[in-house]
Amino acid sequence: MTNNKILFKTICIVSIFLSPVSSIEFNYPAVFNFGDSNSDTGELVAGLGIRLEPPYGQTYFKSPSGRFCDGRLILDFLNFNFPAVFNFGDSNSDTGELIALGIEHIDPPYGQNYFKTPSGRYCDGRLIIDFFLDAMDLPFLNAYLDSIGLPSFQKGCNFAAAGSTILPANPTSVSPFSFGVQVNQFFRFKSRVIQLLAKGKKFIKYLPAEDFFTKGLYMFDIGQNDLAGAFYSKSLDQILASIPTILQEFENGLKRLYDQGARNFWVHNTGPLGCLAQNIAKFGTDPSSLDELGCVKGHNLAAKHLNLQLQALCTKLRGQYTDSNITYVDIYTIKSNLIANYSRYGFEQPIMACCGYGGPPLNYDSRISCGQTKVLNGTTITAQGCSDSTENVNWDGIHYSEAANQYVSSQILTGKYSDPPFSENMPFLLKLKF
Ligand SMILES: *[C@@H]1O[C@H](CO)[C@@H](O)[C@H](O)[C@H]1NC(C)=O
Ligand SMILES: *[C@@H]1O[C@H](CO)[C@@H](O)[C@H](O)[C@H]1NC(C)=O
Ligand SMILES: *[C@@H]1O[C@H](CO)[C@@H](O)[C@H](O)[C@H]1NC(C)=O
Repeated sequence: MTNNKILFKTICIVSIFLSPVSSIEFNYPAVFNFGDSNSDTGELVAGLGIRLEPPYGQTYFKSPSGRFCDGRLILDFLNFNFPAVFNFGDSNSDTGELIALGIEHIDPPYGQNYFKTPSGRYCDGRLIIDFFLDAMDLPFLNAYLDSIGLPSFQKGCNFAAAGSTILPANPTSVSPFSFGVQVNQFFRFKSRVIQLLAKGKKFIKYLPAEDFFTKGLYMFDIGQNDLAGAFYSKSLDQILASIPTILQEFENGLKRLYDQGARNFWVHNTGPLGCLAQNIAKFGTDPSSLDELGCVKGHNLAAKHLNLQLQALCTKLRGQYTDSNITYVDIYTIKSNLIANYSRYGFEQPIMACCGYGGPPLNYDSRISCGQTKVLNGTTITAQGCSDSTENVNWDGIHYSEAANQYVSSQILTGKYSDPPFSENMPFLLKLKF
């Protein structure tokens, strides 16, 4: 059958600039495999792989405005048809919440690469969520508490706050905004929006329309801190045993969102936290605690257990919420592949922090964080950035660099790491425009 024929296309991505705060730099060469509606889903998805082989990696990261060909933008092919995004999470997707709260601050060189100023993000530039919103042709999300950051919430709102956990916060928590609180904040946000919209048209420019709450995408990237924090006071067995309780709390939050109309859920799993310099410095001093990549085994095992159960939860909810789309995204696999095969993707350092103190192998010292100046042993010391943060997968020992986030985002957008994969089940994610 001729319409079963699969078209192979090489699409090169060029950089475009929408505005100073929302430029698109998906500069990777991408191989897409397009099938028609009769195509086998598995084949379609398998063919979606974006793979960067040398020397592309170098070009990609070293020359961000570079043009690979006169091809079309990824936006021409992927239509993420969501009018708004509501995000819940921790520092992996915090776009300024904890900083707006005023209990933490971050200094240069945070933000140096893209925003040219600490932008409230725990990164030298953009986060996965920033790249993702770009791909959806939406502006970067404002933090819920950021009262004077270009305060438009028309296309969504970000409730993620650095340090947040799924389990309820306690007085010693870094962030008081654990998942249930973020969901409460969302309810407050929604009810205020509906009140204000009722007052007249002048708010339309700044606030989501009422139906955006159903049509919008609800994104989640939280759970890493529940595990990482627990290792300071609990054994691995205790932590593994606590995972069902953590996920019960997560399920409660999702259910509350579903009950008030959320229908599109996008859940990121937890990355290989044993590969973060912060955890290696504290828990990896005994070489037998490390795996072949130099990552702490116990931490990665806990992350894998959480992820297995999280994926099972998503499957269960898909059965219960048959009118919803629930996508689980395997960030763990993308990140561990990046750390294991870093040079293939254009990086020189898989684990060592770019910004920190102490030098190789970790360049991480828990007493002094990136950008800070302190007196240690009578000497004034500043934890500085490395000369080129695009060489490092890791930015500050805890968070990934912008270059790594860009790589991870490009992998998410292949659809290969999603359950279900981007497919005919989710046509709005892959609507060809020709
Ligand atoms: C690194 O790349 C090899 C070859 O593609 C692959 O088999 C392996 O799974 C990758 N490592 C990780 C941890 O993903
Ligand atoms: C401070 O001094 C102690 C004791 O001499 C030494 O072990 C430690 O490494 C020093 N720390 C720094 C940051 O130089
Ligand atoms: C979920 O995906 C289906 C396609 O399978 C789509 O028709 C539907 O509109 C989506 N659901 C929502 C609530 O957006």
